[in-house]
Amino acid sequence: MTDYVRHALKVKPTQDEYARQTFTQSMRTYVLHDVANGMKTVYDRKVEPDFEKRNARKPKDGPEVHKALKDETLFKFYSSIRCNAQEMAFRSVIPTLERNFEATNRKAQALARSTEKAAGSLEINPSFEVPHYVAGLDVHLMPGGYDTEHTRDDVTQGALYDNGISVFSMGLFGDELDDIGTTISKFISTKYPDFEPARILDLGCTVGHNTVPWARTYPNAEVHAVDVGAPGLRYAHARAQSLGKTVHFHQQSAEHLSFEDESFDMIFSSMFLHEVPGKGIRNVFNESHRLLKPGGLMLHMELPTNDMLEPYDSFYLDWDAYYNKEPFYKAFRDMNAKEVCTTAGFGKEKFFHYIIPSLGFFGEDAVVKSIDNQSGQADENTGRLSDGINWFCFGAWK
Ligand SMILES: C[S@@+](CC[C@H](N)C(=O)[O-])C[C@H]1O[C@@H](n2cnc3c(N)ncnc32)[C@H](O)[C@@H]1O
Repeated sequence: MTDYVRHALKVKPTQDEYARQTFTQSMRTYVLHDVANGMKTVYDRKVEPDFEKRNARKPKDGPEVHKALKDETLFKFYSSIRCNAQEMAFRSVIPTLERNFEATNRKAQALARSTEKAAGSLEINPSFEVPHYVAGLDVHLMPGGYDTEHTRDDVTQGALYDNGISVFSMGLFGDELDDIGTTISKFISTKYPDFEPARILDLGCTVGHNTVPWARTYPNAEVHAVDVGAPGLRYAHARAQSLGKTVHFHQQSAEHLSFEDESFDMIFSSMFLHEVPGKGIRNVFNESHRLLKPGGLMLHMELPTNDMLEPYDSFYLDWDAYYNKEPFYKAFRDMNAKEVCTTAGFGKEKFFHYIIPSLGFFGEDAVVKSIDNQSGQADENTGRLSDGINWFCFGAWK
């Protein structure tokens, strides 16, 4: 449901629209819990033993599991329901957004002008060329992608993302779809009480839902955020203004940023890297290294990389690369996070990764306890959107 859109740009669905959103959410819950568990049972009881009989060993990685499981009826059932539910998450909110198209745009413009609650800013570059890997793709089956504009100064694709993700996330993204930012900023501020970043930059912020928690956690920091999609940035700016949080949004590619060398104390991203091609990811890390002050922190929340996971869990998370229009997803997950950081200039010994229990799901105490309880081991709940989720993040100090 669109219940997790909790700010001034919220749109009200009719009862029928709401019922459709609720149905879509239930269908996602069903496929990601019941059907996914059934598929794992088929794998454990049938597919893996058969594979072992034929090859005298177990599958060694995600692609081998995928190949072995592909012809199973339950895999086909799982994949087909997941694809349909993914499309429906966005389609179920479109009628509400269409009905509110003009009103939402007017409201966003008014919020952008208002300085009543916050003093954020927005910089849209009219000659900016959106990278082909964003412009040429309806990524994760979101109609129109991040950059389509339906009218002048349009926010619609931002609204589509915010409302669609509200249905998609089944409550696991938290009260304001901000659980990742809220959880990780709580973890970092508790673990490093002396780290007081004066300037923070969020890369690939979309509608800024995981940017705002950093402004809440570090109220004295100047918070900036970049994205390539103008509609999301306009929406993000209006959203942050309505929530009374000052954030400065810029239309820029994280691969080539205009900020000065050593001008940030912290660079963050969430769910961003897997949407960028491999060469672009390396540019993002080089830019992060350039922009950080010595002693600064680079921190990326992502899905765990394949080298940390059992073959079945690799297969499970890589599903999106094959069936969900996420063409760069697997290449990212096949990367070695430490190697990418060190190649960009970060010291080997400055690399870290953390696995942090969702604050919304487990509560604040669990997040704080996890500081002293980092085994470094990913498991089936790491990055997997279901009950008991743990967020994975990695990065390095400069
Ligand atoms: C899945 S969304 C990330 C959403 C958000 N950060 C979150 O926490 O959920 C990926 C975003 O990255 C943006 N993006 C893709 N390539 C980019 C680039 N080179 N520079 C900046 N943003 C980019 C897309 O426009 C999109 O808004």
